[in-house]
Amino acid sequence: MDGFATIIEPFRIKSVEPLRMTTAAERRALLRDAGYNLFALDADDVLIDLLTDSGTSAMSARQWSGIMRGDESYAGSPSWYRFKESVQRLFPFEHIIPTHQGRAAEKILFSVVGGPGKVIPNNTHFDTTRANVEHSGARAVDVVIAEGRVPSSRHPFKGNVDLDALRAVIEEAGPEHVPLVMVTVTNNSGGGQPVSLENLRAVRAVCDDFGLPLFLDGCRFAENAWFIREREPGQQGRAVPDIVRDMAALADGMTMSAKKDALVNIGGWLAMRDDELARQCREALILTEGFPTYGGLAGRDLEAIAIGLEEVVDEDYLRYRIRSTAYLADALREGGVPMVEPPGGHAVYLDARALLPHIPPLAYPGQALAVALYEEGGVRGCEIGTVMFGRHPDGSESAAAMDLVRLAIPRRVYTQSHVDYVIETVLRVAARASTLPGYRIVDEPPSLRHFTARFAPLA
Ligand code: F0G
Repeated sequence: MDGFATIIEPFRIKSVEPLRMTTAAERRALLRDAGYNLFALDADDVLIDLLTDSGTSAMSARQWSGIMRGDESYAGSPSWYRFKESVQRLFPFEHIIPTHQGRAAEKILFSVVGGPGKVIPNNTHFDTTRANVEHSGARAVDVVIAEGRVPSSRHPFKGNVDLDALRAVIEEAGPEHVPLVMVTVTNNSGGGQPVSLENLRAVRAVCDDFGLPLFLDGCRFAENAWFIREREPGQQGRAVPDIVRDMAALADGMTMSAKKDALVNIGGWLAMRDDELARQCREALILTEGFPTYGGLAGRDLEAIAIGLEEVVDEDYLRYRIRSTAYLADALREGGVPMVEPPGGHAVYLDARALLPHIPPLAYPGQALAVALYEEGGVRGCEIGTVMFGRHPDGSESAAAMDLVRLAIPRRVYTQSHVDYVIETVLRVAARASTLPGYRIVDEPPSLRHFTARFAPLA
């Protein structure tokens, strides 16, 4: 927009959801009742919900009209064809298999190609991807570049694959035990960091050397393409859909959670070029998801995805989207709040261990910060640290690599003044950081403890 410094939300609001205000005293009582676990709060008691960007997008008027147009025929619905064409405009894979969300695509893919003795390299597996790989009996190995593991490193493409590490993993396992290589764009578990086209090309070359297919975990493909356009030499000013097609052209298939960059509340797909693999995946699909022309979704969901995919690659949308995340990060940085740098596309990851040096990892600094943000301003983020990753299958506990709090930004949901309020909340908590208590766990399930554990503050 010709020379304006203010980047506005490129939409106006037609339908609103009221937010319920609470007092700090109420929030303290709610926290006590919830065992200091933010997953146990009622969403109605949360003012600004930054728990996840997944499935929390606001749909457009066009998408809602698509919902009404959705055709619910069991087989061969026109909504299916609109969905398929919309996906293939960006990702021209022969086979598109709709699933109810990303992990269903992962489950189907790895139940077919995984299994004991197999190894899957990925820049960083998202939790559900790793869980599905491991559930099949295969091993999930992360091969992100070293900078991708250092919160303060400002590399422009911290999601890039370490090519030497990738080669080493394939050689050590033997290429016959590596059914495919995966690259997650953007790299959520590494802070929402992008992967460059140059790196994807180099990964492709390694795959070609060993005769291996390359799959994308494409959840945040549009945000990744925008970072390529902004940061990669030679890519400035290119049309976003062209960049997406360049990414797709380097791959043999993808898994997708439409709950992110398709701007919908539910949905996903699995795609590939290989006919035989597609046949096997469709067989698995029918067992758990449904017939191949709707696969776990209603016709109306397919319509909403088809339209969302057109809207998500719009330049004004992406400029606003990436800018609004950076706006939050810029203000917090200026206020001296440590975080993963540079900010990712969909979230800002606060470095709780650095902000709360008086709380040792086993007293859960991420949990302490997340609880304090809710207590201070009703803002809900998500601990990504020792609570989430600290307990091991043998029962032992150790500090996670980092103790972060993710503030994930739902798409098209909050305005700049909401973000200003979040900034104020974080800065107020940061100002009293040294007074925050650590936590101990008083009740814990055998696995995935972050969802249901109960905590108590240390004196
Ligand atoms: N891959 C990545 C990179 C993800 O971030 C997610 C979900 C999935 C796969 C699984 O997709 O939820 O549709 O089954 N991430 C959400 C989050 C849950 O909060 O980051 P799904």
